[in-house]
This record gives sequence, structure tokens and C-alpha cells, in this order.
Amino acid sequence: MARSLSGPPVQVVALMASGYPAPENSWAARGGARTFDVVSHAIQAVGLAKRYGEVVALDDVSLEVPAGTVLGLLGPNGAGKTTCIRILTTLLRADAGEARVAGADVRREPGLVRERIGVSGQYAAVDEYLTGFENLDMIGQLYHLGRRRSRERARELLAKFRLEDAADRPTKTYSGGMRRRLDLAGALVADPPVLFLDEPTTGLDPRSRLDMWEVIQTLVGGGTTVLLTTQYLEEADQLADDILVIDHGRTIARGSADQLKRQVGGERLEIVMTDVTELARARRLLEPLATGPVTQDERTRLLVLPTAGGTGPLVDALHLLDDARLSVDDIGVRRPTLDDVFLALTGHAAVDGAEADGAAAPLAGQDGRPGEHRRHARETARESR
Ligand SMILES: Nc1ncnc2c1ncn2[C@@H]1O[C@H](COP(=O)(O)OP(=O)(O)OP(=O)(O)O)[C@@H](O)[C@H]1O
Ligand SMILES: [Mg+2]
Repeated sequence: MARSLSGPPVQVVALMASGYPAPENSWAARGGARTFDVVSHAIQAVGLAKRYGEVVALDDVSLEVPAGTVLGLLGPNGAGKTTCIRILTTLLRADAGEARVAGADVRREPGLVRERIGVSGQYAAVDEYLTGFENLDMIGQLYHLGRRRSRERARELLAKFRLEDAADRPTKTYSGGMRRRLDLAGALVADPPVLFLDEPTTGLDPRSRLDMWEVIQTLVGGGTTVLLTTQYLEEADQLADDILVIDHGRTIARGSADQLKRQVGGERLEIVMTDVTELARARRLLEPLATGPVTQDERTRLLVLPTAGGTGPLVDALHLLDDARLSVDDIGVRRPTLDDVFLALTGHAAVDGAEADGAAAPLAGQDGRPGEHRRHARETARESR
């Protein structure tokens, strides 16, 4: 259940709060025609800040999401992701900063913002006593889609989210993943031009997660703007045009997945030797293939060479090792993942390290400098695997 909202779907609460029911002349009532003036940035925020007593939940966060693109807000537990979404969706007032969503000011025109957005909160907020069909039908009617269209839309979405078989059961009988999917379907009922999804795939099984990615990609292909939060780096990598990494309420990096990956350097060749006593010899032999300092780890018998040129250095390395009769257990080219980026930026892993670590280590990477700390962080993570 949503922390802030219990009971009806977020869409319904948003409508109620905006002077329920939705104005007759809202874009939804006009059949979803996107006639309002969508500025080039569908979402814009400058200097957002929020404190809860001593806790700084958000500290000077600015972001821009061009219309028809996806911004991934990435961060570990407690980073400030939900706080950011709640401010942008008018469910929470910022202490400082300004934001415009779909052409309306979140502070001065919350009703307009609510008409133009769909929200799926971190915790599914569905009416337990209504069926899946009734939940979606009700949202459609509250958006003035009309009786027939609301029903059609409910059926369409139940099919899209593979909930047809459970459509006529009260949602209190749904599993967690089913509720999650229904809540997301609810956010899409009125086909809003701007969509906020707070951890849309947390708790979904792998198939449902892939389905969800497809749904999001299709929506964006049709011009919808999406701001989604995630702790899954792979998800941000797959879906987001731009990524904002936040930690402890502060922005620590932004850019495309590729740009962020470049911050931790390029690809590298990783070689696990069979015999630890041959590590130093292998290193001397392979050092000419490296484009930067080579590292070695006796405990894991691992040699890491920064390289460029894809699989070329891999083939060369295999030849050199074979000629010298040095045996390897494993060898491969590894490209940096967003996990590497997160670790490099924060000094802790994206998901599990966040709580254990407490305060983040100094932020190597803000200046784009590959530092000792960065390498150490990566090695620490590797050791803890
Ligand atoms: N209502 C509240 N009262 C007090 N502190 C709060 C409240 N809501 C959030 N916080 C604190 O603000 C910080 C940011 O919380 P937020 O929910 O935005 O994080 P998050 O990035 O969404 O985390 P998660 O991945 O766990 O959902 C946390 O330290 C949290 O404890
Ligand atoms: Mg959250």
C-alpha cells in the first residue's frame, strides 16, 4: 500500500484532490487529445529540496525530460527517488525548488498537472474489494472516458498485463505481482502523455518484467514521456534515454547509459589463471596489450587489463598464453555495466551495499577521474560476491 495513499488508486486520489471529478474539458475527457502546450521538456525541475526533520531526502536536484523520452532515476534505498516522484506528481510539497510537468507548475497548478499525468506508486494501491476489471473501469469513468470506452479500456489493459483470467476476482485475492501489474494498468487508463513509474518492475517475475519493458517502450514509441525510478541498472540501461543517479538526496551523475559507462573506463580483459604462481609471468607477457595499468589479485588469480578493440586483444592474449604454455581457467572481455558505474560513483553497490555501508565513500567519478577509491570499490564488491 502506498505510504501516502491507502485505498483507491493513485489516479483516483489525484483526481479527488484536484477537485474530483476531472473537469469536463480536461484532455482525458476530450478523448486524450494532446492539445495542451507541451513544452519541449515534458518534465522540468530546478533545485528541488526536501527535508524530513534531520533527514535530507532531496538536496538541490534538477532534471529535465524532453517530451517522448524516458528518464531513469537511479539510486539505492533511501536515495530520494520516491520523494522526487511525489513532489513532481503534486503529492508532496518541496521545501525549495520549482517544477513544471506537462506544461503546468506543480505548486501553482496542481490540478492541471494531475489531469495530465499517470502515476504508479512504489506500492500497488488498488481497491481490494473491487475486481481488477472494476478497478480499471472506475478509473476510466472518473476520467470521463464514458461508460463504453472505460469498459473497453479496462479489458484492453487487463489483456495487455495478462490479468484476463483474474479480471473478475476481487483484487484482495491477487498476488503481489498481479496487484503491481493492475496498478500499472491503472496509470495507463487515460493514456496520459506523462507517466511517473516508481520502481515499476520491483516484485515482478522475469517474464512480467520483460512485458513491462515492452509496454513502456511501446508507450514511449507513441510519444509518452516517462520518468521511472529503479534500482535495477539493467532496467535503466534498457529503457532510459537519460539517467540521473542520486544518492543520499544528491545528484551524483547524469547522462546516457553509454556516457555513464565511459566514466568508469572502457572495456577490459579479465583472465583467471589456473595457477597463482604463473600470475606474474602472465602479467609481464600480456602487459603490452593493455591500454592502462594492469591489476592482479592473487586470491582470485585474476588479471585485469584495460583494453580497446573488442575481441582482438582477447585473441592475442590467448595466443601469447598458449605459446608460453600458461593455462587459464577463464578469460573474457568485459564491458562496464551500470553496476560498475554505480559502484564507482558511490563506493557501494546499487542495492545490497547501500544499507550496510552507511555513508557513501568520497565520490570518485564526479570529476571523471578514475581513482584508487574507484578501483578499490570495485574490488571490494568483487570480493563480497
Ligand atoms: N514521511 C517521511 N518521514 C520521514 N522521513 C522520510 C519520509 N519519507 C521519506 N523519508 C526519508 O527520506 C529519505 C528518502 O526516502 P525516499 O522514499 O525518497 O527514498 P527512495 O530512493 O525512494 O528509497 P527506496 O528505494 O527504498 O524506495 C529516506 O532517508 C527516508 O527515510
Ligand atoms: Mg522509493
